[in-house]
Amino acid sequence: MAKAKSSPRPESRTVTVSVEHGDITQVDAELLVVDAFEGVERLRGVSAKVDAATGGALARVLAAGDFKGKFKETALVHPAQGKAKRVLLVGMGKLDKLTPDRVRRVAAVIARRARDLGVERVHTVLHGARRDGSGVKPRVAAEALAEGALLGLYLFEHYKGERSGEDKKKEAEQRKLKHIVIVEKNAASARQAREGAEVGSIIAEATNQCRDWAAWSGDEAAPERYGERAAALARRHGLRVEVMDKARIEAMKMGGVLAVARGSVREPRVVVLSYEPRGAKGTIVLVGKGITFDSGGISIKPSERMEDMKFDKCGASAVMGAVVAAKRLKFPMRVIAIAPFTDNLPSGSSYKPGDIVTTMSGKTIEIVNTDAEGRVILSDALHYGGTLGPDAMVELSTLTGACPVAVGHHAIAGMGNSDDLLAQLRAAGDVVNERVWPLPFFDEYGEMVKSKIADVKNSAGRIASCITAGKFLENFVGDHPWVHLDIASTAYHNGSSPRLNDEYCPEQATGVGVRLLVQWMREYRKPAWKKKAKPDSGEPKADLTREPAKGPSRISVG
Ligand code: BES
Ligand code: MN
Ligand code: ZN
Repeated sequence: MAKAKSSPRPESRTVTVSVEHGDITQVDAELLVVDAFEGVERLRGVSAKVDAATGGALARVLAAGDFKGKFKETALVHPAQGKAKRVLLVGMGKLDKLTPDRVRRVAAVIARRARDLGVERVHTVLHGARRDGSGVKPRVAAEALAEGALLGLYLFEHYKGERSGEDKKKEAEQRKLKHIVIVEKNAASARQAREGAEVGSIIAEATNQCRDWAAWSGDEAAPERYGERAAALARRHGLRVEVMDKARIEAMKMGGVLAVARGSVREPRVVVLSYEPRGAKGTIVLVGKGITFDSGGISIKPSERMEDMKFDKCGASAVMGAVVAAKRLKFPMRVIAIAPFTDNLPSGSSYKPGDIVTTMSGKTIEIVNTDAEGRVILSDALHYGGTLGPDAMVELSTLTGACPVAVGHHAIAGMGNSDDLLAQLRAAGDVVNERVWPLPFFDEYGEMVKSKIADVKNSAGRIASCITAGKFLENFVGDHPWVHLDIASTAYHNGSSPRLNDEYCPEQATGVGVRLLVQWMREYRKPAWKKKAKPDSGEPKADLTREPAKGPSRISVG
């Protein structure tokens, strides 16, 4: 096999976000950034001080009506007075609309602008935090700033060759940005901001790692390379790792993984990356789909946009990022990520429609469509995860084309056996703007994946296929709270679709799921769980002897 050009560029550009305690009007800044809210006539607080230092250069921009403080609006000023060479005014929008996510977006706008201007260092205020307490807390503002800036600066350029001429000059300019410095005068706020900037940087780095992992293509996206990368992560961050090779996967009887892998000359890997804090409070298992390329296999896909199927490892990439963040943020619970990596390709040795696959759980799958391969490998990963005694299990996968058809690109489809866990993930998703929306998950959908000749079949056709995929998975989940997140809608941008979090999501992989999982883990509470009533046990699910309560009825899932 020809060796593809290996990455000629560094994995990630290093820009740091730091906090300085001091007076921003006294900084010899190449670029200084201050803000204003929409509908506020005069500059206030630190913006007013900077304006005074520039001899009123900013106020003149406002007076001329050239800047209104609209959300993400910018005005670049070259003041004749004061220490700053340039001042960028940035609009925060209406004060009553301010959220940490808006700060994140503004931060990305600032960082990208600083990069385009070719400065090495940008000094900025704590956008969104206000002395009178009407904004967001200093720690939260700094976290959003760091996160938004580092996410917004991310580019996937690993396969770009040497540039020449104008392009080369432009690139050199763009590579100048190294430091984003938040300047804060109040000592206590600066201290809190320092904490926030550190946390935001960790979360952004984990997300950017996921983006890299998810966007690799060709030889770099070989299952064994992911095994190597996981081992390297474990060394770098002090995590435990097990990389199962084919022999080990066989010994584990992971028939689902082996069946899908059969079509490729590249051997599969199952990666188990875990963070084990001393005296761990509980166990979380994260499972991610790691199809390194999904051609559909024998049930081959049409060639149009088939290249997007390199992104079929976004779930696996997300759970790897989440474990690293859990470790770096010193979360109190054990976090175990399980990611099966394999190609799905057609060949003489491929698994075929009509095949029966025996999974690790002992349950059998009738293969009716080899393109429904994600659920086949996940059957083993979920079952294995269940044997580790999780208090909660969350699984992410680019599982179905029906997912974006159902929810577009602005939501993750969520379903599972625990209302509580799903509610927790929805709450976390709202905070980071990776929103989760539930789909119906009635038992009747589960009937649709029953097989006449095996325990389940891997496709129930087009109807409700995002849901029936989830129902298929439920067969392999043990007796514990579990949620399946279909991220096929949000995991990548191919340039043509509307974008989720446009300001801080580049084209290629979005890194979706990392921030969602981290936010969920930050506020982790063991989800409620009572032993599942066996399906068909005849047990009523609700107390039917009582009048229904007033108000909207609760939706019961599973
Ligand atoms: N990886 C795909 C799902 C997908 C499609 C993700 C488009 C992102 C964009 C998955 O393996 C798949 O092919 N699913 C099939 C299942 C069907 C054969 C039952 C699908 O959704 O079409
Ligand atoms: Mn497929
Ligand atoms: Zn797939």
